[in-house]
Amino acid sequence: MKKFAVIGNPIQHSKSPEIHRAFAAQFDIDLSYERLQAEIDEFAPTATQFFASGSGANVTVPFKEAALRFADELSDCARVAGAVNTLSKQDGVITGDNTDGIGLVKDIRDNHAVSFRNKTVLIIGAGGAARGVLLPIAQEKPHSIYIVNRTPAKAQDVARAFLPHGSIYPLSFETLNAVTTPFDIIINATSASLSGEALNLSEKIFGQETLAYDMMYGKTPSTFMQFASQSGAVALDGLGMLVEQAAESFAIWHGVMPKTQEVIEKIRENL
Ligand code: ATR
Repeated sequence: MKKFAVIGNPIQHSKSPEIHRAFAAQFDIDLSYERLQAEIDEFAPTATQFFASGSGANVTVPFKEAALRFADELSDCARVAGAVNTLSKQDGVITGDNTDGIGLVKDIRDNHAVSFRNKTVLIIGAGGAARGVLLPIAQEKPHSIYIVNRTPAKAQDVARAFLPHGSIYPLSFETLNAVTTPFDIIINATSASLSGEALNLSEKIFGQETLAYDMMYGKTPSTFMQFASQSGAVALDGLGMLVEQAAESFAIWHGVMPKTQEVIEKIRENL
C-alpha cells in the first residue's frame, strides 16, 4: 500500500486525508494518507523520514517554502510561486509542484463557469497565497491582472518577479479605491479573513457582474465575502479550490483525475 501524508503545523484540522481517501475510493486505490505535524524548524528531517517509505506528500502552512528547498526538481508553477504544496517521489527523485493555482482556476472556471479570458482580475495580497496562483491565472489569458497589498512594496516586488511571464500591475489601496469601474474577478489572497479583519476596500470595485472569491473557507461567509455581496457582487469561498488542488495532486500521484463535486458537497456539509 502506498503511503501519503499532509505535512503542516498545526495540522489537526486538515481536510486533506478525508479528501484523498474519498478520491481513492472512486478508483478502488488502496492507500494510506495521514496528517503529519513537523516542528517549525524541522520540515526537512520530517520529510526525509517520511519519504524513506512514503510516495507523496501535500505541504501546507507554514512549510511551502521549505518544501521548495527540499525538492530535487521543481515544476514551473512551483518555481514561479516560490512555494510547493505537492511532493512526489519517483526513482529516488523528489519533485515539487504547486497545484494551488490550477485548483483556484478550475473551481472558478469549471465549477462556477466563469472564464478569465479578457477579464480584469484583481488579486488582494502579495504573500505566498497570492504568488501561488499568479501563473495559472495568467495562463487563462485575462485582459489584465492587478495586485494590491497593504505593504505596497511587496506588490511591486511580486509584479517585478513575475515579469518574464507577463505583466501584473501593482496598486496601493489608495490608488485602488480611486477606481470607479468594477473588476470582473476579485480574489482575496490575504490572511485577513482568518482574523475576521475587514480590508480597506471601496464598494465601487464590485459590480453585479463581479465574482468575488475568498481563498479561505469556513462555515459562514468571511468579512470580505459579506462586503462583496453587500456591494452587489457574487461571492464564493475557497472550499472548491481546496478540493480541486487536492484533485490535481491526486492526478500527479496516481495518474487519474478524480471527480470533485460530491467531495466538495460532503466537506461543505461537515464544516
Ligand atoms: P500567505 O502565505 O498565506 O499568503 P503571508 O505571506 O503572511 O501569508 O501573506 C499574508 C498576506 O495577507 C499579505 O499580503 C498581507 O499583507 P502585508 O504584506 O501588508 O502584511 C495580507 N494581510 C494580512 N492581514 C491583512 C489585513 N488585515 N489587511 C490587509 N492585508 C492583510
